[in-house]
Amino acid sequence: MEQLSLLDDVVAKSEAGLRASELTVLIRHHNDCYHKLDAPEISDAEFDAMMRELLELEEKWPELATPDSPTQRVGGNPLERFAQVFHRLPMLSLENAMQEDEIRAFEQRVRSLLALPDEMVIAYQCEPKMDGLAIELVYRDGLLEQASTRGNGVVGEDVTANIRTIRTIPLRLSGSGFPELLEVRGEVYLPLQAFQQLNQQREEEGEPPFANPRNAAAGSIRQLDPAVVARRPLAMVCYGVGMIETESRTQTGLMSQLAAWGLPVSDQARQVTGIEEAVACFLDLQEQRDSLPYEIDGMVIKVDDLRLQQELGEKSRSPRWAIACKFPPRQATTRINEIILSVGRTGVITPVANLEPVELSGVTVSRATLHNWDEIRRKDIRVGDKVIVERAGDVIPAVVKVLLDQRSGAEQELPEPEVCPVCGSKAAREAGEVAVRCQGGLACPPQLAESIIHFASRDAMDIDGLGSKYIEQLISLGLVKDIADLYQLTREEFMQFERMGDKLAENLLAAIAASKQQELSRFIFALGIRHVGERTAKTLAERFGSIDNLQAATLEELTSIRDVGPAVAVSIRSFFDAPANQAVLQRLKEAGVAPTVEEKRVGGRLAGLTFVFTGTLTTLGRDEAKRLVESEGGNVTGSVSKKTDYVVAGSEAGSKLEKARALGISVLSEDELLAMLAKDVKINK
Ligand code: IVH
Repeated sequence: MEQLSLLDDVVAKSEAGLRASELTVLIRHHNDCYHKLDAPEISDAEFDAMMRELLELEEKWPELATPDSPTQRVGGNPLERFAQVFHRLPMLSLENAMQEDEIRAFEQRVRSLLALPDEMVIAYQCEPKMDGLAIELVYRDGLLEQASTRGNGVVGEDVTANIRTIRTIPLRLSGSGFPELLEVRGEVYLPLQAFQQLNQQREEEGEPPFANPRNAAAGSIRQLDPAVVARRPLAMVCYGVGMIETESRTQTGLMSQLAAWGLPVSDQARQVTGIEEAVACFLDLQEQRDSLPYEIDGMVIKVDDLRLQQELGEKSRSPRWAIACKFPPRQATTRINEIILSVGRTGVITPVANLEPVELSGVTVSRATLHNWDEIRRKDIRVGDKVIVERAGDVIPAVVKVLLDQRSGAEQELPEPEVCPVCGSKAAREAGEVAVRCQGGLACPPQLAESIIHFASRDAMDIDGLGSKYIEQLISLGLVKDIADLYQLTREEFMQFERMGDKLAENLLAAIAASKQQELSRFIFALGIRHVGERTAKTLAERFGSIDNLQAATLEELTSIRDVGPAVAVSIRSFFDAPANQAVLQRLKEAGVAPTVEEKRVGGRLAGLTFVFTGTLTTLGRDEAKRLVESEGGNVTGSVSKKTDYVVAGSEAGSKLEKARALGISVLSEDELLAMLAKDVKINK
């Protein structure tokens, strides 16, 4: 008996091993599709499901967790502090050249040190100077063993767990011929788009934004919790080596060799001959600076021949064979003349500084965002202050700091606004939020397009055909000033649109009219009340049964509902308390908008059954299929488990289908699902 269970264990383990290798191959492939090729083949949710499955297997059989397993990238346990790392060779810095003449002087020094004859031309490698932080990677026998920061050049910090989360850094080198010990050096940075997203998210979560992508990258790498780092899409460019025996003869060759081993190198590096070509390359790169997806602060010129590099050697802190040509700084000093309040499409009121115009790396800057009032207080920004402003990529310039010692005493503080500067509705910030918002959602012009697009969208009022293109036109023609105006539109008004025919206008009017009888939960969702998503809207519709009842609900009644927390309740109350919103609701009512209460399909044909969708559903689309199953009382969940009754597999179904088969769960095609629903379905593509 015991022998049998031992045998079971061996079989289970070998099956787990096979599945783990299969998952590893799949995850690596999809990782490359996403991060290297920019062409994902599966959804994020499917990718996450594979990763979770692999993690579960490794948890059960820890010996499956190899050092180069993709799970090593998700971030392990937080550290208490970073350990020290001594660099085998010091990590040097670079001498700077601020002007073209200094670049030419660099060549003169190189020529005289090497005693080169005039007719011999020097080849250089020109590389962007990435604006991030220097990191050393150590590979032993092709496996990533350690990663460290530069520190003071001699001793840095061990940030291996954090670096492992960067998906473009190989955990195992590819190809062959790599030395037993390979030390690679490069710059870790945060691409601009990720930087902007991160700052937006930080503002939403009430944390101070990073001043620039370099600070964001450095702050991320110095996080003690690798799981936090794993959520920040950092990247790396390798630009050199530490200890290595190389067969390469040039810097260019060395970079190609690193790339062949799977290490990320710059796609902007250029090999040039003679210093004048290097100067031209520098001017070229400066022009391209603002169109690159990452921040660079200059260009590094390196003598390409590694033998010459060796001959030139190093000074105490920098090599004699390279120079950093710096771009003009993106920082400048100026004065805040006035602070204006700008209202965004989501109602957030942002303080913006009108500046004394100042030249910043070739652009005249006269405005800077101050982000929010927490930031204003933290930096103690006042109208009239002398400030340092910084421009990072194509981001609007930000005020980095106030020159406090230059204050005259006449500077004025800016109080937090209590009313919206555009529509006059109440403005407030919710507990724990940094953003001050206008509460007049339905009647505030800057929020108009967004609120109407959401109102008409498929999951909300489902006004077929009324997309953002028509909505923008309706607004610019002055035909619609709030959602209630939609119900007053006439055929003639639609006919003013470009390429609008009788039939199309009629269809649009019919769709608008049909939405008057839309389900209550969709109507509540359509109002765009902050924090009220589809699920909460459903709960509210079931609980209150009419918009009048919901409008009259007290904070206590609202918070007593499961799924409605205090922040949601406050947001619902402030929405219905705003007179501007009340007026719009009244006009909707007068126009005949009378949402219906959907009967609860407790006894629907699919009641009690749980469905999972995988792959692409070509006829229905996932949202429609989900809606149909739910309308018959069925449940739709995201992952396959023993509790799943049916897996509906579309084309290119992934691991969920395999799991369903392994668990013996019934698999349906899309046609079989339709047959099961067996009624005329409205198909929205
Ligand atoms: S070479 C021995 N190449 O600039 C020379 N550095 O100001 C090592 N940097 O600490 C540097 N891009 O962090 C080199 N393409 C590039 C670079 C680069 C950015 C950084 C690096 C270094 C700093 C020196």
